[in-house]
Amino acid sequence: MATRYCLEIVVLLLLLPISIAVNGVLPPKFFDVIKYGAVADGKTDNSQAFVRAWTEACAYGGRSRVKVPGGTYLLGSVSFEGPCNGSMAFVMKGTLKAPTNPQHFFTDTWIGFRYVDNLTVKGSGYLDGQGASAWQYNDCQNNPQCNPLPATMRFDFVTNSRVHHLRSINPKNSHLNLFACYNLNISYVRLMAPADSPNTDGIRIGSSTNIKISRAIIATGDDCVSMVSGTQNVDISGVTCGPGHGISVGSLGRSHEGEYVTGISVRNSTFIGSDNGVRIKTWAPSLYSVASNISFQDITMQNVKNPIVIDQQYCPLPHCLVGESAVQIENVTFKNIRGISSTKVAVNIQCSGARPCRNVKLININLGYNGTGPSMSMCSHVKGLSYGTQVPAGCL
Ligand SMILES: *[C@@H]1O[C@H](CO)[C@@H](O)[C@H](O)[C@H]1NC(C)=O
Ligand SMILES: *[C@@H]1O[C@H](CO)[C@@H](O)[C@H](O)[C@H]1NC(C)=O
Ligand SMILES: *[C@@H]1O[C@H](CO)[C@@H](O)[C@H](O)[C@H]1NC(C)=O
Ligand SMILES: *[C@@H]1O[C@H](CO)[C@@H](O)[C@H](O)[C@H]1NC(C)=O
Ligand SMILES: *[C@@H]1O[C@H](CO)[C@@H](O)[C@H](O)[C@H]1NC(C)=O
Ligand SMILES: *[C@@H]1O[C@H](CO)[C@@H](O)[C@H](O)[C@H]1NC(C)=O
Ligand SMILES: *[C@@H]1O[C@H](CO)[C@@H](O)[C@H](O)[C@H]1NC(C)=O
Repeated sequence: MATRYCLEIVVLLLLLPISIAVNGVLPPKFFDVIKYGAVADGKTDNSQAFVRAWTEACAYGGRSRVKVPGGTYLLGSVSFEGPCNGSMAFVMKGTLKAPTNPQHFFTDTWIGFRYVDNLTVKGSGYLDGQGASAWQYNDCQNNPQCNPLPATMRFDFVTNSRVHHLRSINPKNSHLNLFACYNLNISYVRLMAPADSPNTDGIRIGSSTNIKISRAIIATGDDCVSMVSGTQNVDISGVTCGPGHGISVGSLGRSHEGEYVTGISVRNSTFIGSDNGVRIKTWAPSLYSVASNISFQDITMQNVKNPIVIDQQYCPLPHCLVGESAVQIENVTFKNIRGISSTKVAVNIQCSGARPCRNVKLININLGYNGTGPSMSMCSHVKGLSYGTQVPAGCL
């Protein structure tokens, strides 16, 4: 009787993994970087150990978890490549530190994920780009052929994936950079760098579709989020931005002719002491392209320099050519935007004389000026309409 009972248990135990597998919840397999030779002393370069752990995890056919236990890891430039045989997760308990030796600076990526489907990146540790060692080498403001410094984390051709609870400080270039991604959700990230750090965009998105950003705190030296050519269907909500240059579509029109930006929604977000709030910027003169179906809604501005901006004469370089932008801006809504502007011009919409903006709507705008006198709006070459509260007085 007892043996038969035992046998039944053994049979049950043997069958258990199969029934779990049928339900699709096989437990994940862990690939601990320590087992691949990583040393958490903050000094040893762990690039090879991390890549070995990733490569074995990638070959495994089930759910793989590359695990970085607590501690501080020096990590050189690494590329985690797919396609992989199963779903992948990169889970950081520890802190990763980038090199401070200038010989490692002139590459475009610190940590890269490429051609991966169904990836999760998360962590309670943080990514320390150690940017202060490199910002002095950034001469991109004066030199259009400048060598780029490495972005902290790049996602190239990453699909059906999630990045959450990630913290990044002091990147050498942008914090997170997305290129050719599809269906990627980013939530609960905190991205920090000094207000005067050069080109430290929070999240930079190009040529990507179906991107969702929610619950992010971004305090950085450049745009909190920037969406450049080929970006479509982006939903941004619950972002706190500042210091920083705001949430921007563009700059567009300098390269990538005809790569439209469309389907952008920014909502329920707060800007605190940032240089801009919500902005669309295009170069002039420029190549032809279209930015359309863009909405900015339910937004609070706290002492923001330029809360609402469309700038079709964008050129941050010392020598700019004269001409009009050929980027068509169309179907843009600013709705329920309230708060305080730190300069007098709270709404500044400067479209292209060659291709005036079409169907721009200002609905319930209430932006006071933190100074004497009322706030102002300035518009040129823009067709559209305004209704509801209009402070400053509308110029459409
Ligand atoms: C996927 O699994 C196959 C068979 O085990 C193996 O040959 C291949 O190298 C694996 N792919 C990767 C990306 O590791
Ligand atoms: C991603 O992987 C998980 C776990 O392996 C699986 O349940 C899920 O269906 C996959 N999702 C996609 C979009 O492939
Ligand atoms: C991203 O979020 C949306 C909405 O919450 C959800 O439908 C989608 O499945 C998520 N995608 C991934 C890859 O987790
Ligand atoms: C708006 O975002 C904040 C976080 O910044 C969140 O706490 C709140 O629930 C969000 N509200 C809505 C209506 O989504
Ligand atoms: C602007 O919106 C109108 C009406 O919804 C639509 O027909 C048109 O295609 C949109 N324009 C662009 C460039 O998306
Ligand atoms: C913009 O939205 C309108 C209305 O939803 C749609 O007809 C149009 O195709 C969209 N434009 C683009 C470029 O997707
Ligand atoms: C006005 O500006 C001052 C100085 O920058 C700042 O301390 C104060 O908080 C601002 N007031 C509001 C309501 O934003």
